[in-house]
Parts: sequence; C-alpha cells; structure tokens
Amino acid sequence: MKVGVLGAGTMGAGIAQVAAQAGHEVVLVDLNQEVLDKAKSGLVKVLDRLVEKGKLTQDESTTIQNRFTYSTSTTDFAPCGLIIEAIVENLNVKHTVFKELEGIVSNDCILASNTSSLPIASIGSVLKNPSRVIGIHFFNPAPLMPLVEIIPAVQTNPEVLSTAKSLIDSWNKITVVCKDTPGFIVNRVARPFYGEALRIYEEGIADFATIDWAMTELGGFRMGPFTLMDYIGNDVNYAVTESVFTAFYFDPRFKPSFTQKRHAEAGFYGRKTGRGYYNYAEGTTLPEPTKDLVLGQQICDRILVMLMNEAIDALFLNIASKEDIDLAMTNGVNYPKGLLAWAEEKTLPWVLERLQALFEEYGEDRYRPSPLLKRLVKKGATTF
Ligand code: NAI
Repeated sequence: MKVGVLGAGTMGAGIAQVAAQAGHEVVLVDLNQEVLDKAKSGLVKVLDRLVEKGKLTQDESTTIQNRFTYSTSTTDFAPCGLIIEAIVENLNVKHTVFKELEGIVSNDCILASNTSSLPIASIGSVLKNPSRVIGIHFFNPAPLMPLVEIIPAVQTNPEVLSTAKSLIDSWNKITVVCKDTPGFIVNRVARPFYGEALRIYEEGIADFATIDWAMTELGGFRMGPFTLMDYIGNDVNYAVTESVFTAFYFDPRFKPSFTQKRHAEAGFYGRKTGRGYYNYAEGTTLPEPTKDLVLGQQICDRILVMLMNEAIDALFLNIASKEDIDLAMTNGVNYPKGLLAWAEEKTLPWVLERLQALFEEYGEDRYRPSPLLKRLVKKGATTF
C-alpha cells in the first residue's frame, strides 16, 4: 500500500520515515518546499547514522530513500491507500484539507489525522464518506517512540479501525485503541504529573528540584515533572493543559497552573529558550534538591495517586482497556510501570485512602476518587 503523509514538519517527517522503513512507498506533501527539502536532508542524515551504527546497510538506506516522493501537491496522493495528516493544529484548516483529500483519493482510502487535541468525529464530519476517518496519533519523535494511539470516531467503520490497527502494528509500533475523547489516553492520564507537581510547588511544600528528585529517585520516573516540562516547552505543555481543561468542560482535575502560565508568558519555555523552571545558561549549575526522604515520599505518593486516579477513571469511562491504558503510559511517556498494575501492587485501599485524605483536606473536586476505585474497594477487590 502506498502511504501519503500530509505535512512534513516534526511529526510528518518522522511518520513518513516510519512508513518507508516498514516498506511502503511514501508520498510526503507539504505546502512549503523548504520544509520538504529539510525533511529530505533530515531523513538522509538519520539513515546515514543508522548505517554508521550498523543498523542498516547502505543499500537498505538507498532503498528507503527511493521509496519517497516529495511534493507540494496533494494530487500526488491519488494512488494512496492511507493518508496521515500532520499539519497545523487548526480545525478549520483540517476541514478544508480533508474535503480536498476526499476529492483526490479512491473511495477505500483511509483518511487519518495525527491530531493531539481535535475531535476525530469533527474532522471527519466534512467528508462525504466519514466512515473512512480515524485518528492515528504518534508520539514525538515518531521513529523512536513505540506508542501509537488509534482513535475511531463515532462515524468510523469497524473495518477501517482493524485495517489501520493491523497496519500500524506491522510498522513495529505498539498500538492502543481509545475513545475519541480529549487527550485520548496519554495526554489525559498524564496531566497530574505536571498539574499536581505544580500545585505542590505553589503550596510551598517543595521547590522544583526537590519535586523532581522525589519523582525520579523515589518514584522511578525517568525525568522529574519540571525537567520534563522544560524539555516539552512550557508554551506547548501549558497549551495542551488549557485545551484539555476546556475540552473537559472545566473539570477542576485538569485545571492549569498560574505558575506554568507565567513561565510561558515570560518566555521561560525551557531548554529551547535556555530558561524554564531551571536556568540552562552556560556557567550556571542546577539547584540541589532537599533530599528529605519523608517529604520526598509524601510528594511522590501524592502525584502517583493522582495519576492512578486518572488512569482508573479512564478505565471507569471505557476510554480504553486496562491493558491499553497501562501500555500507553509505559510506551508513550516511559512510565516505569503501568498505573493500573502499579495501583494493584500498592493495593487499591492504599490508593483510595490517600485520595480521600486529599479530598477531605482540600474539599476540592480535583481530588475526588474515581467511583470505580470506591466500588472495587467496597467489594474487597484486589484487581481492576
Ligand atoms: P509542524 O509545525 O512541525 O509541521 C506542520 C507542517 O504542516 C508544516 O511544515 C506546514 O508547512 C505544513 N502545513 C500546514 N498547513 C498545510 C496544508 N494545508 N497543506 C500541507 N501542509 C501544510 O507541526 P507538528 O509538530 O509536526 O504537528 C503536526 C500535527 O501533529 C498537529 O496536528 C499536532 O497536534 C500533531 N502532533 C504533534 C506532536 C508534537 O509533539 N509536535 C505530537 C503528536 C501529534
């Protein structure tokens, strides 16, 4: 099957590389010729590095490069069986583009969007045949991150779902299926990693370095929340948080933080601007954490139970299966364990007690335990 990728930016270029490495002929289209040239030279660089490392032969690298057609015209998508759109995150622009694509491709071509935050049902609503639309959401960088969320919309034909899922599975990716709801799995369940860490900081309980230390040393996370937000960019992370909060009709569990907003407003985006929660300027040293084990454990447990509650609530609302929720967090954001399996390990009453204590102390809806957790603890269940 010939695969089309629309948008040759960060995500599109990476997705095109994955498809070509999986053996597909790929048509990569962008409005901007310079972006296409950059994608092409970027691909050559990446493949050269794989050859140097002995992961590819020179012949294989040439074959992969020859599978590419670079174009500024969507009419080159005509022979494709799947098109993955990865252009600007704007619903009106996506509507225009999807209508245009439908006029070019055959009736059985699957039209997918890599959107992080827009509803797939809405993207598909402009099509004459909306049953061919689906979300195929890669993580950045697409060639390295194993997870892909597959999101059928209410209109999606079940056959389109199974074809898309088995195709992406064959690209050596780990696919999870989730409902067309804000943030899908990862960007919904991961919110407290940032939000609760920011809240703990705002309450004056600990500084950035101490919270990061607690989550890495005691929690086993690869990166602390503030270090990670500095990598993602506070502008990007704040925008995602605000969009998820709005999309959830202002559920306080997803409330954005003024601290992050101010950092974004100040241009303290993180690594890319040399300053975020930490200062990355040459000659500066990163602050030392307060390595207080009791405090660290309190911080870690608080963030952890909030994450677990989010995962449990996603299961409660049938956003995805238990297996897929855990796979998503271990493969999309490298969590050391799946949150549901982790909650079982800690025991369900352990999680509920901590959430209830927070809920009572603060009296805020943000800390309400998921009804599923309460129900299971009441029944004496030990697993989900
Ligand atoms: P980007 O800004 O790097 O690339 C977008 C590209 O689309 C640009 O090269 C632009 O020239 C091109 N473009 C815009 N309108 C076009 C049109 N009408 N026709 C053809 N090309 C057009 O953006 P990025 O980061 O790659 O994001 C693309 C999509 O992927 C967005 O929907 C985003 O939400 C989603 N996404 C982004 C992730 C990330 O970490 N950057 C992660 C997962 C999904």
